[in-house]
Amino acid sequence: MAFDHRKYRPFTPIRKTDRRWPDRVIERAPTWCAVDLRDGNQALVKPMNIHQKQRLFDLLVKLGFKQIEIGFPSASQPDFDFCRKLIEEDRVPEDVQIQALTQARPELIARTYEALKGARKAIVHVYNSTSTVQREQVFNLDRAGICDIARKGAEMVRDHARDYPDTDWTFQYSPESFTGTELDFAKEVVDAVTDVWRPDQGQKVILNLPATVEMASPNVFADQIEWICDNINYREHLSISVHTHNDRGCGVAAAELAVMAGADRVEGTLLGNGERTGNMDLVTMAMNLYSQGIDPEVDLSGMAEIIETVEACTEISTHPRHAYAGELVFTAFSGSHQDAIRKCLSRRKDGDVWNVAYLPIDPRDLGRRYEEVVRINSQSGKGGVAHVLERDYDISLPRWLQIEFARVVQKEAEGEGGEIDSFSIHKLFDRDYLQVPKGWRLRTYDLHRTDAGVQARIEFGNGTSSVLNGQGQGALEALAEALEKRYGVKIVIEAYDEFALGEGTSANAMACIRAQIDGELYSAAALAEDTTSANLQALLSAVARKVEAAAVDTAAVG
Ligand code: KIV
Ligand code: ZN
Repeated sequence: MAFDHRKYRPFTPIRKTDRRWPDRVIERAPTWCAVDLRDGNQALVKPMNIHQKQRLFDLLVKLGFKQIEIGFPSASQPDFDFCRKLIEEDRVPEDVQIQALTQARPELIARTYEALKGARKAIVHVYNSTSTVQREQVFNLDRAGICDIARKGAEMVRDHARDYPDTDWTFQYSPESFTGTELDFAKEVVDAVTDVWRPDQGQKVILNLPATVEMASPNVFADQIEWICDNINYREHLSISVHTHNDRGCGVAAAELAVMAGADRVEGTLLGNGERTGNMDLVTMAMNLYSQGIDPEVDLSGMAEIIETVEACTEISTHPRHAYAGELVFTAFSGSHQDAIRKCLSRRKDGDVWNVAYLPIDPRDLGRRYEEVVRINSQSGKGGVAHVLERDYDISLPRWLQIEFARVVQKEAEGEGGEIDSFSIHKLFDRDYLQVPKGWRLRTYDLHRTDAGVQARIEFGNGTSSVLNGQGQGALEALAEALEKRYGVKIVIEAYDEFALGEGTSANAMACIRAQIDGELYSAAALAEDTTSANLQALLSAVARKVEAAAVDTAAVG
């Protein structure tokens, strides 16, 4: 029996009676630290080469990240070389701190300082594993043994820093696997480390609390963070950082709740690359803040460049539904969504607060275009189809024709089984409505107003033209009467609408008509220089369809 939930145990809830974080709201961005070049890189099938690392580093700097973990130089020669390159070629801006990870082992700490030699300012990030499972099954050490590793590591970090007095050092400690560590023990280890570093005496210290593995729901992580903030020594002198992973799919949620619970700093990667299901996604969290009116303090407006660079460096493609970044996240296929978006966008004025149904943020803020918002497939309705024709071809359809034409588009989309682009939609509209049947093009018309209404003389056709004479209340009725006489049909005009067209189009007017001809419905549309010509042509085209359909039927019978 392979799929058996009884193999698992629930995470023990944190006993807490003074929970405050649920009532808090995030009001400003945390300090961000991008760990793409370390945690992200460690998770790649093919780790980045030095050019890819440089490219990603430059992007992170450009976006505004001020703390960037550049690698694990004591564990990897390429990471060591990259670190040296950044420092020796002076590629780190003055306001950016580079960070290097090391295990709490003497030779690795020494090598980390060698890698960072000459840096203006840097963060030495030392870690050891503290969870029950790691203690008992991996290290075979008791609490005191694990605490000892952390304390000794902290001492070595402090002592080596003294050998490089020209660098402005920040020390960072992570009790790795913190989420699986008993809270009282986590406090014991952390206090042991900070007792060595003495942040109260001026040493800058970051305490990073990793959800190395996400083991419970995000509220549990928030409880853990709040508990630590309330109970550790030197809290007011520490920057509390969180580093979440996404094993349960809640990496961003956990980081957000952790900030509500007191965290000052968040580590993550662009688009969430990282071990297993990834690190906390910096783009998502920053954009979540942005969408609440909070300055994220990083500039993500060039999303296309972010995606291109991350994909080129990680060789991982971005999911089309990836929050904020995916190709389809600002696209609506569903008819009712399209309708709502179209209505909201058309009411919106420049400078208004953003309040558009189905679009939590303005796509233009990320360099995306409204043109991509409405796309058509078989799920789309009249609103979307009308929107596309209006947006791309300046053609506004009356409601009755929107409904009718949407069915044509839906049938086509169902047949094709996928998306149908704006060009094809226009082609369908042309085929079914605009195209003038051969021999039916309006050439001239002459209208005379009489006491009985309008008398019309209409000439149409190619080469040999036909002349029709009719009378009615208006030009259309007069033409209808003439056509009834000529073709022996009964015409009832059910609907007609005419529009002036915008500048930049060759025609000035468009008309749409729906007529019952001998009890059958025929619709047509026409473009012309003036509205009367457009109306007359639309009726001619509708009748032409009936006449030609009848001719085909007769031929078939004959
Ligand atoms: O996930 C983790 O615990 C880490 C630490 C080294 C911070 O990446
Ligand atoms: Zn990690």
